[in-house]
Amino acid sequence: MNFLDFAKQVAKEAGKMINSYSSDSIAIESKGSIRDVVTKVDRASEQLIKHRISEKFPNHQILGEEESFENKDVHTRILNQINTIPFLWIVDPIDGTNNFVQNIPGFVVSIALICKGVLTVGVIYDPVRNEMFCAKKDHGTFMNDKKIETSTTSQLEHSVVGTSFSSDFHIREKTVESLSTIISRCRTARILGSAALNLAYVAIGRLTAFWHYELDAWDIAAGILIIRESGGVVTTLDGREHKIFNKDILASNKYIQKQLLKELNLTK
Ligand code: 2AM
Ligand code: CA
Repeated sequence: MNFLDFAKQVAKEAGKMINSYSSDSIAIESKGSIRDVVTKVDRASEQLIKHRISEKFPNHQILGEEESFENKDVHTRILNQINTIPFLWIVDPIDGTNNFVQNIPGFVVSIALICKGVLTVGVIYDPVRNEMFCAKKDHGTFMNDKKIETSTTSQLEHSVVGTSFSSDFHIREKTVESLSTIISRCRTARILGSAALNLAYVAIGRLTAFWHYELDAWDIAAGILIIRESGGVVTTLDGREHKIFNKDILASNKYIQKQLLKELNLTK
């Protein structure tokens, strides 16, 4: 089985497990701030994915959101050495945990494989809609085995854009400021609550663009490849090429990127 098929299979298995829990009965724990939540289901999903990877590929390294939270040094070390690691899996066991615990659709499993710093495979699986977004480097992006592309919208006034609130208050204020600038210029905007899902939706053209001021590698690794392979672009908010350790991100169908960079930088 190739890496992409393996990642799809594992994401689906984790998604099924997540679906088997009733969110009514899930206790919420906080990670540092009361706005940043985690549940036993996030941990169980991460354990399942890590277990599957290490039984199949015992020499591969894994960076998972929940373990990284508990061990920040490992997270920093891995990202500093990313260009030398032959096989690194980056895992977000549930992206959109606040949606999951509130019983609102819009949470996904996100898995990426990075080989010596090169994004090679990315999958984002939405277990509620049974939608599997996936990409392999230089082979395009697919949703449930159908090839997909970003939208062709080239005017901001026809665009449907997405952003997300951080758990950090200061970042939330920046997001609200930027949204107040953009909302008067675009068709409409959505706050879906999962960064990875937003990136998948840009790839399939449901959204024209997505921006955020503070994300981690596990929120965006799979999504970056999925967007690039569907014809879109990903940069930092000052227009530089996006590296996996950059916190800020602007992703779009390439046609709207310049206009959005201009508008967003008005608010920085
Ligand atoms: P999570 O659900 O895995 O916590 C919601 O705004 C989106 O941003 C989600 O994808 C969420 O991931 C992520 N997110 C929220 N606050 C964040 C922070 N402080 N750092 C990184 N990602 C964050
Ligand atoms: Ca996440």
